[in-house]
Amino acid sequence: MTVSLDTIVSLAKRRGFVFQSSEVYGGLNGCWDFGPLGVELLRNIKEQWWRAMTLRDDIEGLDAAILMHPRTWHASGHVEQFADPMIDNRTSKARYRADTLIEEYIARLRSKGKTAEADALADRLRNAKTADDYYTIIVEAQIPDPVSGSRDWTPVRYFNLMFKTYIGPVEDESSVVYLRPETAQGIFVNFKNVLDSSRRKLPFGIAQIGKAFRNEINTKYFLFRTREFEQMEMQYFIVPGSEQQYFDYWLEQRYQWFLSLGMRAEALRVTPHEKLAHYASAAADIEYEFPFGWGEIEGVHSRTDFDLRRHQEYSGKRFEYTDPYTGQKFIPYVIETSVGATRSFMAFFCNAYSEEEVPSTDSKTEVRTVLRFHPQLAPVKIAVFPLVNKEGMPERAEAIYRDLQRRWKTQYDDSGAIGRRYRRQDEIGTPYCITVDGQTIADGTVTIRHRDTMLQERIAADRLVEYFSAVLQHQ
Ligand code: GAP
Repeated sequence: MTVSLDTIVSLAKRRGFVFQSSEVYGGLNGCWDFGPLGVELLRNIKEQWWRAMTLRDDIEGLDAAILMHPRTWHASGHVEQFADPMIDNRTSKARYRADTLIEEYIARLRSKGKTAEADALADRLRNAKTADDYYTIIVEAQIPDPVSGSRDWTPVRYFNLMFKTYIGPVEDESSVVYLRPETAQGIFVNFKNVLDSSRRKLPFGIAQIGKAFRNEINTKYFLFRTREFEQMEMQYFIVPGSEQQYFDYWLEQRYQWFLSLGMRAEALRVTPHEKLAHYASAAADIEYEFPFGWGEIEGVHSRTDFDLRRHQEYSGKRFEYTDPYTGQKFIPYVIETSVGATRSFMAFFCNAYSEEEVPSTDSKTEVRTVLRFHPQLAPVKIAVFPLVNKEGMPERAEAIYRDLQRRWKTQYDDSGAIGRRYRRQDEIGTPYCITVDGQTIADGTVTIRHRDTMLQERIAADRLVEYFSAVLQHQ
């Protein structure tokens, strides 16, 4: 179903998934806090990725520091090149990424059926490189400011996206450090450490999850483009010549990972890059269809030996690998898989959202909101309810709750009609609700109600741990 971004943002806030950062002070643009349910969902996504990446023979994990030696970012090219073209409108004082301003204008032309004009501009945009190129397109196409309609633009300037800070008490050029804009460089600089300490042979990978920071000109669409976010990256080191084989392999693996966690196939697609970075031999994005349109959630890149070679050059240390069979020395090639943990949080959240008409108690219908999270991702796995707060039911329900809570995230709820309690759990995506009723007291059985089908089954309460061990492990 199509859901608006406003609905997603408001549910996420109301049910404690995501709050605006420092909201009491008016918020901080491009930064978000994960609330009690959000932190569970985010941890579950990261856990699933970590398991998929590291519970195999050929990948090691790593957790590198966020602050790195500043030479790292010279070697990687970020100091010189990690910049976006920025433009200001003199009338509205609004600031834009120049390429995005043009892209959005092209989309408006297309929506008005002006295809030829849109195609011509898209062509020019593809070839734009310098600040002047972007400025000329904006002026010649007479692109107006979407806020004020004004065409009074400043020149385009490049703006580096890395956050700068200082290490130690003296704030001068020699103490500048950067908050990492990607986790990948922590992996590259540790290539030799991991290789030597784990006695690996090619091909092998290094996986890392961690925060990254980009001083984006425009933050956008809730968690989609933020200034502080989390990435899950894996660099797979290979013998040169095998890059196409491993690029295809990892693209397929990563696409299947999203499907295995319940992503709808029709909302997921792979788009090869039209323009490749000079060092890349192949690149593709895995995209999700968000409420605002298709957007990248993961990039898979074949990066040749660019990064290791640059670190070898800048550090003066050898990054070569010696083939144990042939004795040949070479710098390994790399296939990178790079996915945003927080951006995929948003994709999984949108993907799970559904509204459906269901019968209500007064024989009419009502709309229930359900987050159909895959059980492995659901922030709360099980909810336990006493049908009524008497006749021994609360005591029995609480004992069951305490037992399950030791193993899985479980909630206890004894307030309001049972139907309302189901709805509250549906809205946060809890896959299983257990009700303790009169029959429980008589024969020791409880009902398990399934979120997606709303069907109920009865099982013996003393079999619950066995039951959930099976369903929550294997789904
Ligand atoms: N090491 C390669 C790299 O960082 P990227 O395409 O710039 O590649 C990879 O980023 C992923 O990180 C993206 O697909 C996206 O999921 C996430 N990401 C990038 N910038 C982001 C931002 N400003 N906010 C949230 N997620 C972001």
